[in-house]
Amino acid sequence: MKSYSKVLVTGASGQLARALMQAAPQQTQCVGVTRHELDISDDCAVWETLEAHKPELVFNGAAYNLVDKAESDGQADALRVNALGPARLAKACREMEIPLVHFSTDFVFDGHKRQPYEETDAAQPLGVYGASKLAGENIVVAASPRHFAIRVCRLYGPIPANGATQKPAGNFPLLMLKLASERESVRVVNDQVGTPTYTPDLARAVWQLVQNSEGGLYQLSNAGEVAFDEYARTVFEIAGASCRVEGISSEEYNAPARRPRYSTMSNEKAHRCGVVPLRDWREALEEFLVAV
Ligand SMILES: NC(=O)c1ccc[n+]([C@@H]2O[C@H](COP(=O)([O-])OP(=O)(O)OC[C@H]3O[C@@H](n4cnc5c(N)ncnc54)[C@H](OP(=O)(O)O)[C@@H]3O)[C@@H](O)[C@H]2O)c1
Repeated sequence: MKSYSKVLVTGASGQLARALMQAAPQQTQCVGVTRHELDISDDCAVWETLEAHKPELVFNGAAYNLVDKAESDGQADALRVNALGPARLAKACREMEIPLVHFSTDFVFDGHKRQPYEETDAAQPLGVYGASKLAGENIVVAASPRHFAIRVCRLYGPIPANGATQKPAGNFPLLMLKLASERESVRVVNDQVGTPTYTPDLARAVWQLVQNSEGGLYQLSNAGEVAFDEYARTVFEIAGASCRVEGISSEEYNAPARRPRYSTMSNEKAHRCGVVPLRDWREALEEFLVAV
């Protein structure tokens, strides 16, 4: 099993970045750099930061995650942060012989399958965000066999009061709780199925993967799958909120970006590399909501 004495985490105020730092083994020193300290698309700044800290491993927690905005005025930022940034990191890390751990998304798939996607399935993103993330993962994996690209999906986890995140209310369960405090019913899409994933569970699995594996493309999520409307009902049921959920189609919801109807991902490859299977999404959600 590999051990790392010092790791650098970019996008350090993000949900997953913080969970990765919290889940680090005791002997590992984590240096987190926020967007204000390192813009990953700035080539000089990337080299200077790596040279200043000399980490043995880099986690890239930075991303542009505004899926709908990426279809219009966010397109350039999506490509800069999700493709150019990982390219800068991947090249600098390769030349300094540091493995890079980058994160991608289930939105690289078109959603036409009805059983869990494997890493080897064709990626066919439906929108700009998915295309920018696919470009990033391809660049990272091609840059070095020691680099990791890990697809994750539907993240939620603790967000501190001053925590930075690009999403309204931080993540889906928190957004649903906010809406439940303001109204009697919510309309939520009923035709997009995937796996809600709890960042502390994911972070533990990521550490297991980087300690036991050699790099490459992987997928990690909690177990099971659910459509968004049922996910919202489960949040309300666990939290004891009386808000009603009306399931509607993606066409009725009419978001700017098309999303995959089905994007559950197989974790088998990671399991074969020593990652302990993550628990069912509902059990993880209960733990999260009890603590909120
Ligand atoms: N959240 C999800 O549901 C989801 C689903 C699938 C895949 N993923 C992937 O999982 C990874 C972690 O996502 P997350 O939810 O933890 O993201 P997050 O909470 O939105 O955090 C992203 C972080 O990146 C920072 N950032 C943005 N542009 C940057 C730049 N140019 N240089 C450096 N930092 C920059 C942001 O800083 P500011 O806040 O200051 O802008 C933010 O702190 C990402 O690769 C994401 O694409 C997430």
